[in-house]
Amino acid sequence: MMRLSQILFSQGFGTRRLCSGLIIHGEVKVDGEVVEDPDAEYEPEGLNFEVSGKTWPYYAKALIMLNKPSGYECSQKPKHHPSVMSLLPPPLRERNVQPVGRLDEDTTGLLLLTDDGALIHKLTSPKHHVHKVYEARCKHEVTDEQLARLLAGVELREPDPKPHHQAQFVQAVAAERFDATGLRLTLDEGKYHQVKRMAAAVGNRVESLHRSQFGALQLPADLPAGGWCWVASPSCVSP
Ligand code: URA
Repeated sequence: MMRLSQILFSQGFGTRRLCSGLIIHGEVKVDGEVVEDPDAEYEPEGLNFEVSGKTWPYYAKALIMLNKPSGYECSQKPKHHPSVMSLLPPPLRERNVQPVGRLDEDTTGLLLLTDDGALIHKLTSPKHHVHKVYEARCKHEVTDEQLARLLAGVELREPDPKPHHQAQFVQAVAAERFDATGLRLTLDEGKYHQVKRMAAAVGNRVESLHRSQFGALQLPADLPAGGWCWVASPSCVSP
């Protein structure tokens, strides 16, 4: 059991004092009833509560997916564009959720965010081979030969080639053409600009890039660009 003020605090609603204040001022409901006692105790698992008219589910650790629009950076300290964090409501920012890996500023689609550091490590570690599916719009037609080379493996040139740099050998888990210039690539790692560099390595060029899948998770068709939703549990990502 957990005190209501502690529950709000754990979910990112501000300092303990602020959380108690919200409760005392009648802003918090549990099971549809206003609760004005900050010390009222509840079993947090599975609890839904309302703060200022908005319903929140309790999660010991937050895991969400965002449909990232173009023009947002995944970095904590963005340089040229707003951060993806600016698309999230204050309690999630307060909880310090972080992107699971990064998408380029101009890449759209499925971005996971969590405040669970161990989960970030698990989902981004090369050891775990979590599959990611990307749809790229290419400048030139996607040929059978390019698909075969992407599957066989290509060497990535360094963004800034230096003589002592070892070339990186990368292979697509799956590569298919979905229309003349549409390339769908499944990768199980996430090197810097990997899709763009792989397309360049086979003589094509990515003009726009979208991630549609991360592990077992697909971007819901009804999640608009810039929108986010809860992921019920990490097992939805890598069962
Ligand atoms: N590969 C890229 O080139 N960019 C991304 O954002 C993701 C994968």
